[in-house]
Amino acid sequence: MGISKELREQAMNQMQGAMALNIAFIGIYNALFATLSGMRKATPDELATKTGLDKGYVERWCDAAFCFGFLDEVDEKLTLTDLGRAFIPDIPGTAMPFAVQSVLSGHMAERAAVFMRSGEQPGEEVLAERKSILALFGPMLEAMFSGLFEEQILKNVPVFREADKKDSLVLDLGCGNGWYLRKLAMHFPCLHGIGIDDFQKNINHAMKLTQKEGLDSRLTFVKGDIYGFPLSKPVDLIAMNRALHHVWSDRQTIFQIFKKHLKNGGSAIIWEPNWPKSRSDLRDPAKRGMAFQNLAEHIMGNHFLRPEEIEAEFHRVDMETATYLFANGNEAIVVGTKKLR
Ligand SMILES: C[S@@+](CC[C@H](N)C(=O)[O-])C[C@H]1O[C@@H](n2cnc3c(N)ncnc32)[C@H](O)[C@@H]1O
Repeated sequence: MGISKELREQAMNQMQGAMALNIAFIGIYNALFATLSGMRKATPDELATKTGLDKGYVERWCDAAFCFGFLDEVDEKLTLTDLGRAFIPDIPGTAMPFAVQSVLSGHMAERAAVFMRSGEQPGEEVLAERKSILALFGPMLEAMFSGLFEEQILKNVPVFREADKKDSLVLDLGCGNGWYLRKLAMHFPCLHGIGIDDFQKNINHAMKLTQKEGLDSRLTFVKGDIYGFPLSKPVDLIAMNRALHHVWSDRQTIFQIFKKHLKNGGSAIIWEPNWPKSRSDLRDPAKRGMAFQNLAEHIMGNHFLRPEEIEAEFHRVDMETATYLFANGNEAIVVGTKKLR
């Protein structure tokens, strides 16, 4: 017996959803949505000329974007629909991260399918194989998490009051494009911050954005390794956002590093996806992205963590912990505080 018509239709709709996001990715990467928004209406040729892109590709992208409802046709020119406008990267609440994740997951799925035969885990270089995805990776994380950070986390995790002290110093390990320190510096005018990342392009992006936002007198970004970086004095806070799982195999060293660089009474604030205790919890649609990403993380030798595992490592180095859950329990913040002596 073959599959039901309904199941076949369900799979086809999923395929079309992925295709729509892939078309959106092309428009985001090449600033087609943003440019058309500025032009209000344009022919494919005019859009190609304005963006400096190839006319043949732009014309075919326009057909596909029209087909998936991102563009309308008015007086023989193309305009953005509301859905198309939703993919402009700097629009508040942008849908851009979904399109980037769609293409990223296609790449990672292909790699996982192949490596599953040999068990190979080549590491971070697999992400770097796709330069276009890499360029959008930082903006994707910023768009996905900075709203939650500013609206929920900053207000509900009391340890951030340390950032409000005169000359407070915050260290961000694995800082990516620096969005976390930039947001903190906007909220706390006395705060100084140092961001460390071992990927030079992230440091370049972070410095450029910091300068653009007028925060460069208080924030410094340095290419360096989480395991070893120069610091002239102990810090008030150490942040690690979606970075601890990258170095979890060396957790003993990492937690000693927290303790070494924190002032007495200072805290390390770890933000990680909250990997559930049981597989049945993964059926929650809000956890689908996490479940897929945990497979992709395996290619890089990483896996997601349960907050209790992070708490246990803090306790091992005699630090006190408090854990906070956000986004319906899908995001965990584990704070470890170095005891006052
Ligand atoms: C998933 S990204 C998170 C970036 C950023 N914290 C954010 O929330 O947007 C993990 C980051 O950790 C950095 N990273 C991983 N291992 C590192 C290491 N050993 N030293 C420095 N940075 C590292 C990567 O380059 C990457 O930018």
